[in-house]
Amino acid sequence: MDFSIKIINWYNQNYRDLPWRNTTDAYKIWLSEIILQQTRVSQGLPYYTAFINAFPTVKDLANAEEQQILKLWQGLGYYSRARNLHFTAKYVMDTLNGVFPNSYDELLKLKGIGTYTAAAIASFSSNEPVAVVDGNVFRVLSRVFNVAYDISQNSSKKYFIDLATKVLSKSQPNIHNQAIMEFGALQCVPKSPNCMDCIFNDSCEALKLNKVSELPLKSKK
Ligand code: ADE
Repeated sequence: MDFSIKIINWYNQNYRDLPWRNTTDAYKIWLSEIILQQTRVSQGLPYYTAFINAFPTVKDLANAEEQQILKLWQGLGYYSRARNLHFTAKYVMDTLNGVFPNSYDELLKLKGIGTYTAAAIASFSSNEPVAVVDGNVFRVLSRVFNVAYDISQNSSKKYFIDLATKVLSKSQPNIHNQAIMEFGALQCVPKSPNCMDCIFNDSCEALKLNKVSELPLKSKK
């Protein structure tokens, strides 16, 4: 089974047309990923549009008043995300000549950006082959490959990152990463996924073993 070819084919027929998927501008992708960090797509979408309209470039965001940013952020919660956003925009202007980084290693140095967000921005903006691993990816990989490691443990996270890297498309890591997250959001959903109508129903290890509802394994919240 070629996991990557299958999931990219599925994505091309099922993806939602979301505005941050039609750009390779690292600044815009960063904005979308920070907004979506603890927020559902349907809730985050109008905020993304409002932010891009108010601050089309990292320079506009850096020059904004903190109060204006916090006002636009109202309703999203976790206000440290908004403050980090402003801090990082100013940092990019002051120390990186206003050029938003698009490589994994450079992105990781920025405030508010961890391994997931750095991989998302780097792959979507410059097609760098780094695998994203978020809750959707844990779910899809744990089921398709029957991985019963507890995802609240760091050692398991490393296992999933290695597995995600192994199956990642080397030619289209950008599409592959969008695809695996979209597949987790729309098809391989947490509760009662429709496994009878799934591209992996001939190969999903958890389905074979009747363990779909048990995976991913998570001990603490
Ligand atoms: N959640 C986080 N990043 C996302 C993306 N790029 N597309 C859809 N949902 C997401």
